[in-house]
Amino acid sequence: MRITIFNGSPHKEQGNTHIMVEALTAGAREAGAEVENVFLADREINPCIGCFACWFKTPGRCIHRDAMDQLLPKIVESDVIGFATPLYVDNVSGILKNFMDRLIPLVDPHMETDEHGETRHLRIHEKPRYVLSVSNCGFPEQSHFEVLRVLFRRVARNMNCRLLAEVYRGGGPLLATTDPDLRPFAEQYKVLLHAAGKEAVGHLGLSHETIERLEQPLLPDPNYAEIYRQRTNRRFDERLAGEANP
Ligand SMILES: Cc1cc2nc3c(=O)[nH]c(=O)nc-3n(C[C@H](O)[C@H](O)[C@H](O)COP(=O)(O)O)c2cc1C
Repeated sequence: MRITIFNGSPHKEQGNTHIMVEALTAGAREAGAEVENVFLADREINPCIGCFACWFKTPGRCIHRDAMDQLLPKIVESDVIGFATPLYVDNVSGILKNFMDRLIPLVDPHMETDEHGETRHLRIHEKPRYVLSVSNCGFPEQSHFEVLRVLFRRVARNMNCRLLAEVYRGGGPLLATTDPDLRPFAEQYKVLLHAAGKEAVGHLGLSHETIERLEQPLLPDPNYAEIYRQRTNRRFDERLAGEANP
């Protein structure tokens, strides 16, 4: 199974999103998958200008000559296309959305209906067969991913793919914590991600039990969100003070 992860964080390898991707894909590799990470922030990707040249003038080929010339073939060759992003304004980052808009040359403009009678475009390529979505956010709750849960179901449906897994983490900055009291919880979550990556590849999806575990707060404390807010606010104050009095 070939998995390509398109990561829309400007922090690239240093990002909290990548911490998640690394753990998940280590598990996926253990289950036999071949994984490639693409950091979109490193690539020159022009915004779609909506000219539809890729449909009617030069079918399958965009007017822009940029990094998408190398990235579209990667999608066509992958079994799983992974979208990884920090949550920005309750949505995917602009870097990832810009890339997603540029996927339009991969579909035939003609319309068909899906199994529910709803319209979508025809696919040109057999692959990819699965979508994987990964995200983290700065607020502690899992509720902030409401938009992404809808979005990636729609994206998978529009691409005529199955959703292999969606993995979202509120309180994402805790994954990079150096606080010795909190580090074990981040490490524990990474172990869970590793197992989930292995399971997703081995079973072509996640069990309800794994999904439930992935949705648990990072700290097993009923006051987790309040602890997180207070801790984060303290760190913000320290940073502000540091910047005001260097
Ligand atoms: C422009 C911008 C918008 C953001 N919007 C949200 C948001 O709507 N909800 C949230 O919980 N966090 C939000 N965040 C916080 C990021 O999701 C968070 O810092 C995340 O850990 C960054 O991941 P990364 O290190 O992979 O880039 C936002 C951050 C930025 C810079």
